[in-house]
Amino acid sequence: MTDERALLQRRYEQSSTFLRGSTSGEPSTSKRPYVTLTFAQTVDGYISGRKGRQLRLSGDESMAMTHYLRTLHDAILVGVGTLLNDDPRLSARLLPQIPPPDSQPRPVILDTQLRSPPTCRLLKNYQSGQGRQPLFLCRTGLKGSEQGKSLEAAGATIVEVTGMDWPSILSILHSLGVKRLMVEGGAQVIESLFMARSTSSASGIGRAGDLIDQLIVTVSPNFAGSDSTGYKSPKWSDPVPDKTKKQASAEEEEQTGAAFQVRKKDWFGDDAVWIWTRAKT
Ligand SMILES: NC(=O)c1ccc[n+]([C@@H]2O[C@H](COP(=O)([O-])OP(=O)(O)OC[C@H]3O[C@@H](n4cnc5c(N)ncnc54)[C@H](OP(=O)(O)O)[C@@H]3O)[C@@H](O)[C@H]2O)c1
Repeated sequence: MTDERALLQRRYEQSSTFLRGSTSGEPSTSKRPYVTLTFAQTVDGYISGRKGRQLRLSGDESMAMTHYLRTLHDAILVGVGTLLNDDPRLSARLLPQIPPPDSQPRPVILDTQLRSPPTCRLLKNYQSGQGRQPLFLCRTGLKGSEQGKSLEAAGATIVEVTGMDWPSILSILHSLGVKRLMVEGGAQVIESLFMARSTSSASGIGRAGDLIDQLIVTVSPNFAGSDSTGYKSPKWSDPVPDKTKKQASAEEEEQTGAAFQVRKKDWFGDDAVWIWTRAKT
């Protein structure tokens, strides 16, 4: 075995042990996929640099973990901001054995206005047989537009989604056969998924973040600085409850995000990686 292959094999073994059983949970309703939200951030909480400039945050070990994680999902979703900025491949490659395109997770782009260029790498890779066919979700009425036609001519599948809200996006993806979805960013997508609610709780209104089943965050030991790009998350319940404080009102309870609990943590090179799963309510 070459040194390079032995290295990939070691990283694969650490990743598969760490992620064992991580996507075996069931979504709270059968009408949407199991949702993993995952991203890498600096220790001061940023996911990209100034004005959204791409930062290489994951080291080689945690990057290999992310690629293994991709193989556990049917689709990988990013926003059009990430496509325009990074031109990503969204495939599982840093592995001892690279899955063929048909067994790769399907790339999904949230692109309300169809701003993605037909020359993007996802489409080029699909045309050359090196990537799975990407799916672009846009607002209703755009599929037949000039831009829609040129994306389709380049190999895109385009699906219109009324509203482009998360319950609708997840429901459409589920109807297209996506049972396990990995959401990888960028900043606006992370924030909007954190803030989104299901409407399936007993009271009829879910809690912010309750469409996320699992959260996997890589923290790199770097600082990006205050003019960098981050995300907001909901108001969480106090990690250390203040016993002197009176009990939260129903309104405060309603505004508090869904509860997550740490399931695992490990070091991948210099990066710390945590897995949280949403506590069942
Ligand atoms: N550190 C990490 O793990 C990581 C991972 C991925 C990306 N990134 C970084 O993130 C940066 C890009 O982030 P970004 O915030 O500019 O872009 P983004 O989150 O990738 O995409 C945002 C765009 O997606 C579209 N969109 C459609 N439906 C949406 C919905 N329901 N929620 C949110 N967005 C929706 C919107 O554009 P339309 O209105 O035109 O549809 C929105 O402007 C890049 O620098 C990239 O390197 C970091």
